[in-house]
Amino acid sequence: MRYAALLVAAIFLLAGCGTAPQGAPQGTTSEAAADDFSYDEAQFPGAKPWTHENFKDDPDEFQFAVLGDRGGGASPLGVYEHAMQQLNWLQPAFVMSVGDFVEGYTTVQEEMDEQWEEFEEIIAELQPPFFHVRGNHDINLPLTRQAWTDRRGPQYYYFRYKDVLFVVLDTEDAERPMPENMEEDIATYNRLKKESQEAAMAFIIEWMQTPEAQEAFGHAARVDFPREQIDWFKQVLADNEDVRWTFVFLHEPVWDNPSDAFTEIDEAIQGRDYTFFAGHTHYYDYDLLNGQEYITVASAGAAFVHDGPGNVDMLTLVTMTNDGPEIAGVALKGLFDRKGLDPEMFGSYDRAPQLGPEGEGGH
Ligand SMILES: [Fe+2]
Repeated sequence: MRYAALLVAAIFLLAGCGTAPQGAPQGTTSEAAADDFSYDEAQFPGAKPWTHENFKDDPDEFQFAVLGDRGGGASPLGVYEHAMQQLNWLQPAFVMSVGDFVEGYTTVQEEMDEQWEEFEEIIAELQPPFFHVRGNHDINLPLTRQAWTDRRGPQYYYFRYKDVLFVVLDTEDAERPMPENMEEDIATYNRLKKESQEAAMAFIIEWMQTPEAQEAFGHAARVDFPREQIDWFKQVLADNEDVRWTFVFLHEPVWDNPSDAFTEIDEAIQGRDYTFFAGHTHYYDYDLLNGQEYITVASAGAAFVHDGPGNVDMLTLVTMTNDGPEIAGVALKGLFDRKGLDPEMFGSYDRAPQLGPEGEGGH
C-alpha cells in the first residue's frame, strides 16, 4: 500500500498537479470538469478540504514522452524493454525518440535484420504510437541506410498534434566514415550479450573509455545538413505558422558544435515558441539559448560515456499546456509497478546492500 501511494504521488507530481500554489487557482475550470466534479455541497457550509476546482483536464492539453538512446552499447539488463512497460503505465498520448535504436555498424545483412527484428519486437510492447528519429547507429553504412528506408521510410518528417508542430530532422543525412574497429567491437559486444551479461557489461565499460568510442559517442558532430533538408525545414515552418508550439527532434545535439548549416536552421526557427530535443551523448544536458530550451536527453539503456550526474537511464514526460510545455525528467529507476518493487526490473537497487538481513533497517 505504501508503495502504491508513493507511485500515485509520483505520477501526480509528474503531471504537474503538485506545483499549483495552494489557494491560488490558475486558468479556468474546464466545462468538462464542471460537469464531472460533484459533491454534497451541504457538507461544506464553510471551508472545503481542497484547494480549488481547476482540474487539469483541458482537452487541448496533452502529454507525450521522449525516450533516449538504446543503441551504442544497449544494456544487457534490458533497460529499453523495461521502459516500454513503464511508458505503458504512464500512458502518454505518444512517444518521441532521438534515434539509435540498434547497434548497427555492420556489413552483414542477416546481422542487420536480426538487430531490427529484436528492436521491433521490443517496441511492439508499447501501447502509444512511437515516432522514430535517425541516429548514427541506425544508418551509418549503405546497408544500414537501406534497412532504415525499408523499415522506417523517410529520413525526416513532420506532423501536427492538437495544433502543435513536431519536426523530426536527420543529423545523419551526410555520410560519414565508420570509426576504426567499430564493426568488430560492435560484433564482439553483440556476441557477449548473448553469452554473459557480466562479460558484456565489463566489455562495454572498458570499450567506452577508448578514444574510438569517445569520438563516436562523446560529443555532437559538426553536422553539415544538406541544402535540401534545410530548405524543407524552412518550408515546413512556413506552412505551419499557426501552431502554438514547435518541437524539433534530432539525434545529435548540434547546438553544442554548430555548423553554418545548423546556424541557418536555428535562425529560421527564431520568432516562434519552440523546444529542441536530442540524444546521442548518453548524458543529460540542458541549454537555454535564445530564450528557448535545447535539451539533450540521457540514455534508455545505451552505455555511459561521460562521468557525472548526467548519467541516468531516463524518460522525459512533456505536458503541453496552454501556457507552454511542462517538462519532467524521470529516472527509470524511479518508476515501478503498482504491485511493488521488482528487483528483476533494474537488476539491483542502489540502497539494497545497506539494508541488512531481510531488509532490516529499511524505511
Ligand atoms: Fe548516437
